Amino acid sequence: MKNNEKEKIGKLILGYRKAKILFVAVSLGVFSLTREAGSGFRRVARLLGVNQRAMEIFLDALAATGFLEKKSGFYRNTEITGRFLVPESPEYLGHNLIYQNIIWDAWSGLEEVLKTGKPRFPLRSLLSEREDFLRGYIRGMGDIAVKPAAEIAEIIGFSGPGKILDVGGGPGAYAAAFLKRNKNLRGVILDLPETLGITRGLFKKDPVLERLSFQEGDYHKTFFGKNKYDIVLFSNVTHDEGPEENLALFRKAFSALRRGGRVIAHDFMLDETGTSPEFAALFSVHMLVYTNKGRVYSEKEYGKWIKKAGFTALFSREICRGSDNSSRIIVGKKP
Ligand SMILES: C[S@@+](CC[C@H](N)C(=O)[O-])C[C@H]1O[C@@H](n2cnc3c(N)ncnc32)[C@H](O)[C@@H]1O
Repeated sequence: MKNNEKEKIGKLILGYRKAKILFVAVSLGVFSLTREAGSGFRRVARLLGVNQRAMEIFLDALAATGFLEKKSGFYRNTEITGRFLVPESPEYLGHNLIYQNIIWDAWSGLEEVLKTGKPRFPLRSLLSEREDFLRGYIRGMGDIAVKPAAEIAEIIGFSGPGKILDVGGGPGAYAAAFLKRNKNLRGVILDLPETLGITRGLFKKDPVLERLSFQEGDYHKTFFGKNKYDIVLFSNVTHDEGPEENLALFRKAFSALRRGGRVIAHDFMLDETGTSPEFAALFSVHMLVYTNKGRVYSEKEYGKWIKKAGFTALFSREICRGSDNSSRIIVGKKP
């Protein structure tokens, strides 16, 4: 083994320390107390109601890793922290970190999951029982969805009047991208009542709201409608479910679509070896630790479900090409 490979492993195995201090700093709201003028560790500890000794060690580590600057005993946000990790910033990414912090407990059960095949904290319970999880999960997804959503709406290029159903639409970024691109389109976001409580808040001031409605329901049980839609979208939904559930969802989409209508599956997808891209293989373990049947599937599996449900397969395309976490869409047409 070459020396730099040994170093690579060393760096990798200690990566969790940096990640965890950042998750906790954002979850506690540390960076809101270290804006502009900066604060001493005693003040931060007092305002957060935590141990002073622990807070000093913690803040020093945040300074060592470049998220704080320490001068004369005062800690202050660095540029990157102010830009991405303070809730008041328009580029705030903290919701995702709060979600990652909570899901950390699910990852801690990986060995147990390997033995039993069952997650310690299933997604449905997290969504209905943990408000902090629900908010971080939905808002975090919204923050990272803007770019891929705009790209997909552009590729599909639907311009006529019509209606889109965004199944498990979560923060609604995908439905919103389609509606922004095409003023003649109306949209429905179908999701669980607890999720839609957050989604509605996100659209309060959005002008697309007048063409958007919300359908509370469970996508396994709720009727999608018949010959009603021009587009049915499943974005990052199928990785939460098993193969039979996914086939059933595509069948429901088929009957909900008008003739000529399109179903779009958007997700991370693995190649035929199941080992590439790396992001997708790791994301599959992420699904393993907190869903009952979820995983990342291959493009071929999507093609099989789409055809079995009655669609003609149209095309597949990589989304956010060149990024570490590129995804794919597979589009089918109702003949
Ligand atoms: C991974 S998120 C995807 C959100 C969005 N489509 C996106 O790509 O950003 C999965 C969504 O499915 C919703 N969901 C999970 N189980 C559901 C169910 N049984 N019925 C309806 N929605 C569900 C969750 O509330 C969440 O909004």
